[in-house]
Amino acid sequence: MPKSVEKEMEKLRQEIRYHEHRYYVLDDPEISDAEFDRLMRRLQDREREHPELVTPDSPTQRVGGKPAGAFPKFHHSTPMMSLDNTYSVEELTDFDRRVRELGGRDKVDYVAELKLDGLSMALTYRNGALERGVTRGDGSKGEDVTPNVKTIRSVPLRIDPKKLALLGDQADQFEVRGEVIMTRKAFERANAQREAAGEPRFANPRNSAAGSIRQLDSRIVADRGLDMYLYYLQAPGGAELFPEHSKVLEALSKLGFKVNPHWRYCRSFDEVLEYIRAWEEKREKLEYEIDGIVIKVNNTRLWEELGTTAKSPRWAVAFKYPARQATTVVRDIRAQVGRTGTLTPVADLEPVDVGGVTVSHATLHNMDEIARLEIKIGDTILIQRAGEVIPQVVKVTKHASGGRAFVMPKKCPVCAGDVHRAEGEVAYRCVNVSCPAKLKESLLHFAGRRAMNIDGLGEALVEQLVDKGLVKDLADLYSLTQEQLENLERMGEKSAQNLLGEIAASKKNDLARLLFALGIRFVGERTAEFLAGHFGSMEKLESASEEELLEVEEIGPRIAESIAEFFREKRNRLLLEKLKKAGLQFEGTKSRKSEGKLAGKQFVLTGTLAHYSRDEVKRLIEDAGGRVIGSVSKKTDYVVVGAEPGSKLDKAKALGVKTVDEAGLLKLVS
Ligand code: IVH
Repeated sequence: MPKSVEKEMEKLRQEIRYHEHRYYVLDDPEISDAEFDRLMRRLQDREREHPELVTPDSPTQRVGGKPAGAFPKFHHSTPMMSLDNTYSVEELTDFDRRVRELGGRDKVDYVAELKLDGLSMALTYRNGALERGVTRGDGSKGEDVTPNVKTIRSVPLRIDPKKLALLGDQADQFEVRGEVIMTRKAFERANAQREAAGEPRFANPRNSAAGSIRQLDSRIVADRGLDMYLYYLQAPGGAELFPEHSKVLEALSKLGFKVNPHWRYCRSFDEVLEYIRAWEEKREKLEYEIDGIVIKVNNTRLWEELGTTAKSPRWAVAFKYPARQATTVVRDIRAQVGRTGTLTPVADLEPVDVGGVTVSHATLHNMDEIARLEIKIGDTILIQRAGEVIPQVVKVTKHASGGRAFVMPKKCPVCAGDVHRAEGEVAYRCVNVSCPAKLKESLLHFAGRRAMNIDGLGEALVEQLVDKGLVKDLADLYSLTQEQLENLERMGEKSAQNLLGEIAASKKNDLARLLFALGIRFVGERTAEFLAGHFGSMEKLESASEEELLEVEEIGPRIAESIAEFFREKRNRLLLEKLKKAGLQFEGTKSRKSEGKLAGKQFVLTGTLAHYSRDEVKRLIEDAGGRVIGSVSKKTDYVVVGAEPGSKLDKAKALGVKTVDEAGLLKLVS
């Protein structure tokens, strides 16, 4: 191995670490994203060429491959304690008095910090490399979620060796603790994704952060935008190294950790009160939520003297801001259509002042929440702002007599398209792909690499095309002109030409891609392939009944219903006509063979065969001209039964459909 390659790789890693720190910790990048990506790609290339030189602390190793089965439990070196809460200046003054009495001094200096609303986590480092990340758990043992912690880009995987000296004897092995949080923006994004996937929303960023860090697949965690702030250094040898907490925070920063920049050294208790007052309003503007302030005695030697109670230290306390609540009347409840087409019930309120902000709307999230609150139009309700952008409804305080219940509209309030609720989901959605509320999302999905693959049609462009009224549905893309494109921001002659080329080329995509690109709910790439293979043309698919759809492999009632719903919507059918006129591929190749021993025969598979995988069985049948479909009906010719068959066998028996085992099938195809 040439030494120079190894050196180059280490140099790249150091450079990347430096820029990660500038970007994710200091929020002050020196290079562009593209330059950063180039460095990363170069390192990835080298590592691919020399896999033996990949180190676990390499910046390329943040996202692990296989999802974990479960997280191992791990005992904390010392318990992770929680804090006592105080809710008023009086209670806090008591804390200061106790500290002074127990510590035997007249005056104590403090450090005040934001109380980040996330989940606490302990990180251990050995020889400068991140060894383990463990959740708080019950305080004495938590879960080892190391692969997921590694996805947090602000958490250093390796500490600069030159900085380690700061830790004296502890340099070889040390433990730091802090809070994993999710920003409000990342929280909204995570919820939008969950809604799009038909999963329930997270109630707040803390739950969302906690749910994410316990995700078994680290690739999903990497996407969630978690962050971590450190505020504690576990000092096995006592407070010799850092006799002041403010020095600990400074040292953590120097070591490369992200430390929340808003901490303040307070010479006196009065300064603590000032800090608390100042953040009462300012906290609204933070990008993440806090649920109070933490006050810590600055002198860490005094920490040892003060000691702890059973569950919390006597040298620190939390101050919780009072929730800002108010009562008001619900004037109306209406459905608001979001970017993904979800209809969210929103309450229009009698405007009311809640802690200095006039509130006139509150989200009710979904119909389940409306049922839980038993809320009706005309009711008097208690609302609260806990830092969220949109205020929450806490409860109904008085039901109006004859209050009107909210009914989810059957037609979209934005485009009058059909509204559909899939079985087992809480969300109602507008089915019209071209609904103005969701057109931007539809376009981005349509242009995506795995859909129509229109390179260059990104978010900024979609925004302009829709906002300027140039594109009102997906098909309008195909009538855009050079002149129209050139007039857009950041579009030159050349890039407009390129984009038109891309759009024209996308017409050649096959039927399966087009089906996927339409964004029919539950129709992913695989389902789209099955549909295209089974029906062979858009027209046939369009006129298929739900029963016929159920004959397609892997299509169950939920997907069949969603597809039927899509084609029932007039606006979608009009869109398809336009797309056809534009010259897109509406015909595909039918996978079904019209010749062979099993030509025209329908098979359904259930259970596991001893010698063949599902895909292999399918190929056997298809090569002989037969067809494998998803569910048993009277039209099914054979049900192939393996070990541990499911309900399909019962259905076959009930309908009198022939069944064969593996040997029987082989005879049929041979
Ligand atoms: S210090 C031994 N500092 O609040 C006490 N905690 O309610 C160590 N928290 O479990 C905690 N921000 O998860 C500390 N700046 C901060 C904090 C903070 C948030 C959390 C932490 C703790 C909980 C107690």
